[in-house]
Amino acid sequence: MKICKLICSTVLLVGMFNTIVVAEDIPALKDVFKDDFLIGTSLVDDIVRGRDHNAVAIVKKHFNAITPDNVMKWDFIHTQPKKYEFDAADRFVDFGRKNNMFIIGHTLIWHDQTPGWVFKDNQGKQLSRDELLERMKDHISTIVGRYKGKVNGWDVVNEVLDPNGSLRNSKWLEIIGEDYIAKAFEYAHEADPNAELYYNDYSIENPEKREGVIRILKDLKAKNTYLTAVGIQGQAWRLDKHYPTTENIEAIINAVAELGYKVMITELTIDVLPNAAKYEGADIKMMARMEKKLNPYPDGLPDDVQQRLADRYAELFGIFVKHKDKISRVTVWGIYDGKNWLNDWPIKGRTSYPLLFDRNYQPKPAFFAVVKTAESK
Ligand code: GLA
Repeated sequence: MKICKLICSTVLLVGMFNTIVVAEDIPALKDVFKDDFLIGTSLVDDIVRGRDHNAVAIVKKHFNAITPDNVMKWDFIHTQPKKYEFDAADRFVDFGRKNNMFIIGHTLIWHDQTPGWVFKDNQGKQLSRDELLERMKDHISTIVGRYKGKVNGWDVVNEVLDPNGSLRNSKWLEIIGEDYIAKAFEYAHEADPNAELYYNDYSIENPEKREGVIRILKDLKAKNTYLTAVGIQGQAWRLDKHYPTTENIEAIINAVAELGYKVMITELTIDVLPNAAKYEGADIKMMARMEKKLNPYPDGLPDDVQQRLADRYAELFGIFVKHKDKISRVTVWGIYDGKNWLNDWPIKGRTSYPLLFDRNYQPKPAFFAVVKTAESK
């Protein structure tokens, strides 16, 4: 009877928390790079809630900085003009504080995931510059104010440049004008003078966009605007060493540092799948004819591609370590391959492998290659 009780409860426990065990006998990334930069990851609410306990174990062991995936974006946290929904963001911040992590607030002002009402009055008429500035100030001071002294750094503006380096034609730009960026920083600094403040964008290693970043930074400097660092997103960087090239990555790191700001790699993933940008929004299940070509590894990554992924990670971390005096944080976007946005973007339902841990939560060759870059310093 006793034995049955024991077996039954073990089976029950195994059922409740699946049996996969997270590797304990490997070095922790945050220790490996402790003299170089923070090592961060993004968190979805499920993980913060502890519903994926293997992922939680990886986060606690390896990462000392966290960025919320979605829960602080405007459409999650500020759903109606007078309605803020803080539950998930509070949970995220509590998780970081309990685990002694550097907490990043992401993101205050963005063209995406921002509801249409933000730019309109209650009659549906477009707001004036002053009205939109007032709304922006309310949003920023309410959120930054709530987490004052708890969130360490904020992505104040996200993705403000077009590929050619000019300012993106967003509602923020159209209604407020170019100084919406400086205003956002001003409001954030007022709400928490001790928080670090960042500008975060993708493809800024491309020369045209890099020029745009330099223009923005010079403009903010001329206005005496408080800004700490620039985030280079590193989203879906490719296996091919030309996307992006070492030369371009080093050029943006050096350009930002020369202007007196820190650099962060904020959303790193390496895409091993064929580029499918032109099929954005499609579902791989509906594309039977294309499936093999666009989703080549549904049953696992072949050894040679696994090795190329490890080499590419090593190459990139080699650059980061070389520039560690300029880089304050390297964040990967997600924890393990099973839960990452590239499974569903640009095509839904592909099997992607962009991270350091595999679908069974185990470290990939890329993990060990990254660790080696620190050892060879
Ligand atoms: C951008 C945003 C992130 C996230 C990714 C896609 O890079 O900054 O918050 O939405 O897109 O996952």
